Amino acid sequence: MTAKVCVITGANSGIGRAASVALAASGQTVVMICRNPERGQAAQQAVIEQSGSDTERVQLLLMDLSRQASIRAGAQVLRERFEQIDVLINNAAFFDISIKQPVLTEDGHETTWATNHLGPFLLTHELLGSLRAARGRVINVGSKGWIAYPFLGIDFENLDGSHGYSTARAYYQSKLAQLVFTRELARRHAGQITANIVRVPAVKIPDERLPEINPFLLWVFKLKRRAALDPEEMARTYHWLAISEEAAALTGEVVDERQRLISGHRAASDPALWTALWRTSMEMVGLEPDGSEQEGHGN
Ligand SMILES: NC(=O)c1ccc[n+]([C@@H]2O[C@H](COP(=O)([O-])OP(=O)(O)OC[C@H]3O[C@@H](n4cnc5c(N)ncnc54)[C@H](OP(=O)(O)O)[C@@H]3O)[C@@H](O)[C@H]2O)c1
Repeated sequence: MTAKVCVITGANSGIGRAASVALAASGQTVVMICRNPERGQAAQQAVIEQSGSDTERVQLLLMDLSRQASIRAGAQVLRERFEQIDVLINNAAFFDISIKQPVLTEDGHETTWATNHLGPFLLTHELLGSLRAARGRVINVGSKGWIAYPFLGIDFENLDGSHGYSTARAYYQSKLAQLVFTRELARRHAGQITANIVRVPAVKIPDERLPEINPFLLWVFKLKRRAALDPEEMARTYHWLAISEEAAALTGEVVDERQRLISGHRAASDPALWTALWRTSMEMVGLEPDGSEQEGHGN
């Protein structure tokens, strides 16, 4: 099999790092996107050692997914480095339960929304040409926590969180947006790229990455961790979606940790929401409408 170029965000920790090891170990060229140079370099070194690869095939690219200028600059570097990109895994996410008030980014967006939805949306658009050139695969990342929010929607009037803010709600809304985005991306670019989303259940987070929260919540976190998957187990699904022949034709699907196709969230079955989110996201990242807004939904 020819080596694929796989770009993965949030690659210095957790599932992103484990997936980088798995992809590199199977001979792929991996670009680890990280925002912090020290954490990024340390992770790159660890991935090279654990996979038996080298700096040519395991590369580091600094990018802050909460900053649109950083995404645009990083995407430019990727376009210059590679004629085509086979796989983009939008894995990075921000979730800090200790935050009580919305924090706005330099672009004026609430940080969770900016990092977990607008970031992947913009990065994917910036790399569309390179992905199309390879009939590439986009892999987005959702959360099994959707189950706890059956009536969740996307609150278009309050995306900056100024009217009643909850970090958890902001996080699950951003993950729901990734699901809706995945469906619409798959529809608009059918036959050119594939787009699927992984529904991630509880996965172990090391102590040093736990947020600063009260002792009771910390105890709950640690308790939940006992039943959680190891990042390496979860990374298998990323790897399967990225590389396997079996997954090559899959598109618009939600995949669980055992590579089963599942339904996502009831809100994401409404095509009117797909279009509304697409339009709003285009506006929020400063992209012109791409002309496909008027096309009917075929599914
Ligand atoms: N762990 C779970 O139980 C669980 C459950 C459901 C869904 N998920 C999803 O699974 C994915 C991976 O999570 P994980 O458990 O591996 O978490 P993690 O270890 O905390 O990894 C998150 C990664 O995202 C990066 N990141 C955060 N903000 C960023 C930004 N502005 N720019 C660039 N990178 C940024 C982090 O970088 P820094 O090191 O610089 O912070 C880190 O590398 C996420 O999409 C998460 O929402 C996880």
